[in-house]
Amino acid sequence: MTKILITGATGQIGSELTLVLREKYGGENVVAAGHKKSPNPRLVDTGPFVTLDVTDRAQLERTVREHRITEIYHLAAILSATGEQNPDLAWRVNMEGLYNVLEVARQTGVRRIFWPSSIAVFGPKTPRDNTPQDTILSPTTMYGITKVAGELLCEYYHRRYGLDVRGLRFPGIISSETPPGGGTTDYAVEIFYAAVRGEPYTCFVRPDTVLPMMYMPDCLKATLRLMEADPARLRYRIYNVTGMSFSAEELAREIQKRVPGFRVQYKPDFRQHIADSWPRTIDDSAAREDWGWKPDYDLPKMVEAMLVALQKRKERGEL
Ligand code: SER
Repeated sequence: MTKILITGATGQIGSELTLVLREKYGGENVVAAGHKKSPNPRLVDTGPFVTLDVTDRAQLERTVREHRITEIYHLAAILSATGEQNPDLAWRVNMEGLYNVLEVARQTGVRRIFWPSSIAVFGPKTPRDNTPQDTILSPTTMYGITKVAGELLCEYYHRRYGLDVRGLRFPGIISSETPPGGGTTDYAVEIFYAAVRGEPYTCFVRPDTVLPMMYMPDCLKATLRLMEADPARLRYRIYNVTGMSFSAEELAREIQKRVPGFRVQYKPDFRQHIADSWPRTIDDSAAREDWGWKPDYDLPKMVEAMLVALQKRKERGEL
């Protein structure tokens, strides 16, 4: 019997992953946990919701025992830009949170963990094009440091305690339901909201900034595929994955093809430095070979889907 706990369930990925896992395992078997007291009604209507602070190990352990949890999808985290503004908070939430999840899992007999890593594990010394799976991990952000340390911690728990921890180095995730909060790749989501609202957009990175990205359906597909993969085939605990890479200007042009007259200006801020330290394109061949990873969305297909989804939300009065 599978009983899942999702931390960070109110976040960008969590809010959609919760619903997909509830479809698959049954609503009552997927406990959504977030620190917000009033989450999106869909999270509350489709299964159990608990308020949880992942830095509180006792509270986490109580939740896991009470609901007889067998798998944890640990998504609660502070993203890169917020992490630079509040490094102490990023360390506590990202490091203590993950450590608590792994420790509670070990002590209570939770069998499997999913944990998102990030392209932020790479740094200025890493090759920026076609960044390999095995390469230099020397990030310059607190967020990236917590992700590198987190990867090592996950590998340790696997080696030492046999915990089945799996993860993905996600690129920027683009989605139409819950906006991301405090990431460097947020411009690639914000730009769509502006376009659909009929407003101009001021982008916080230069037009020539290229970063790896992925559309949410691919993010959900990658997560499920990895968790379903035959353990004997996994050469790594944490895999590179990517969907597409484009510059901010290419994204703006692709939107302008469908929203004529949409205006974008560029005012780079501190997030430009973070973006400049990350890869432009990712080599995800290990994921393709080991568990059949293949994205469905490229830039034009993603832009089309995003505009259609946000337009519908606008018509429903949600934007
Ligand atoms: N999208 C994330 C961020 O920008 C990267 O993991 O922080």
